[in-house]
Amino acid sequence: MTLKYDTILVLDFGGQYCHLIGRRIREHGVYSEIVPHDITPDEVKALCKKFNVKGLILSGGPSSVYEKNAPRLDPRILEVNVPILGLCYGHQLIAQITKGKVEPATCKEYGIAQVEIDKTVGVLEGLSKKEKVWMSHGDTVFAPPPGFEVLAHTQSCPVAAFKHKKKPIYGLQWHPEVIHTENGMQMLRNFIFEVCKCETNWQMGDIIDKMVKEIEAEAGESDAIIGLSGGIDSSVATALAAQALKDRLTAVFVDHGFMREGEPEAIEQAFKKFPINFVRANAQERFMNKLEGVTDPEKKRKIIGEEFIRVFEEKAEKTGAEYLIQGTIYPDRIESGFRKHSDKIKSHHNVAGLPAKIKFKKILEPLRDLYKDEVRKVAKMLGLPQAIVNRQPFPGPGLAVRVMGELTEEKVRIAKKADRIVTDEIEKNGLAENLWQYFAVLTDTKATGVKGDSRAYGYVVAVRVVESREAMTASFAQIPYPVLEKISTRIANEIPEVTRVVYDVTHKPPATIEWE
Ligand code: XMP
Repeated sequence: MTLKYDTILVLDFGGQYCHLIGRRIREHGVYSEIVPHDITPDEVKALCKKFNVKGLILSGGPSSVYEKNAPRLDPRILEVNVPILGLCYGHQLIAQITKGKVEPATCKEYGIAQVEIDKTVGVLEGLSKKEKVWMSHGDTVFAPPPGFEVLAHTQSCPVAAFKHKKKPIYGLQWHPEVIHTENGMQMLRNFIFEVCKCETNWQMGDIIDKMVKEIEAEAGESDAIIGLSGGIDSSVATALAAQALKDRLTAVFVDHGFMREGEPEAIEQAFKKFPINFVRANAQERFMNKLEGVTDPEKKRKIIGEEFIRVFEEKAEKTGAEYLIQGTIYPDRIESGFRKHSDKIKSHHNVAGLPAKIKFKKILEPLRDLYKDEVRKVAKMLGLPQAIVNRQPFPGPGLAVRVMGELTEEKVRIAKKADRIVTDEIEKNGLAENLWQYFAVLTDTKATGVKGDSRAYGYVVAVRVVESREAMTASFAQIPYPVLEKISTRIANEIPEVTRVVYDVTHKPPATIEWE
């Protein structure tokens, strides 16, 4: 059956931003599927029967085209009769396959670069002579392949963009899908609509239907448990699972003791009203016991991930549930390095933090391909309360990944107080709306201070406030100094154990949003 949607296939070469390309396309009302990089022309043809495939994008990736086990592209894909756009590693691969000159760069480019556009055609139609773009590459194309023309260059990269002279095959050395590429959206729009001639005939609502049907089909007549943290992801997953399973669903909220002040009570109040079975598991002591003496961040996440599952298993034994549903979203999975060619950044607790043996028949993750703001759109469409739709993201392991080093009751208490002050001041000053996250981190560094004429030696608290669209990249927020001053004064005055407050001015990358 041919679906009505025009579709762009994204070939996954392991890049951190691969799925971001998919969602950027969906943002434009065009459907997108991520497919493995080693897809064959026959498999593409089979997909063409299912979807109305209008173009292919080759994603970036962490490899060098010269690495022995680098992900390859079947060269016959370049002969398939649809437009192709290679990004970063994809650009280098096209050049290598078609006999351009690709070499390891003497000077690697990371971050924002100025690119000079030599020809404003095709994907680069309507752009200025100079554009700000996001680069992140080691290999560089030094000469275009025969039959290709150069469309752009930078000081250290003579072929930053190219096009086949006759066929709709393009390569860009940079990442148009990342917001730091100022006109990246226009470049993608040019490819989707001008080069591939797609029509906008897909919408977000189609995904709700697809996800509910998927849960119905997977769980059959069985009961399921859902891990509900009160955050937007698990709340949306709960709402979808409730549509599919109705009273065969039990939502378990695990209070591990690392929630923010007043949060467990607020979550219980909000979800008790939902027409589902709601269970609160008070597990503070068992989490703290398991984490005693543990300082390594990855170990912490693994222990927390495992303990979550053990609590769910105990509840499942009581209800007879065979399936576990989780609100894992795409960035959680990518950062946990679930794909063959991508690098692991850290284990998100509900992904790589999973124990090897699990008593559930299967874990269902209906939101696994979505980004946070797509989840927010789904939440609105499902009619979830504003307080949930607008809640800032909060990691599953909670303050445990915001208290550096060993967790103690004292440190968790300090972290909760500092977090409350940051939240109060940001919200009181009307800054929350444009921010992705704002929180305090209790570092394991101590510093000297002077309090009431005496020497004090106490903790350093870091304040982290970031802007982001989907958490794959983020910028530290330039919040007004008077607000920072108020936060710092309040933390140092109201929490006796703290002598110093610092503001984190690191973007992601190179940092991550959370500190652990
Ligand atoms: P990072 O720190 O990786 O965070 O830049 C990206 C986004 O994910 C959230 N985060 C988590 N969420 N389990 C979660 O459910 C986790 O283990 C986890 N770690 C980070 C983080 O708050 C940010 O929004």
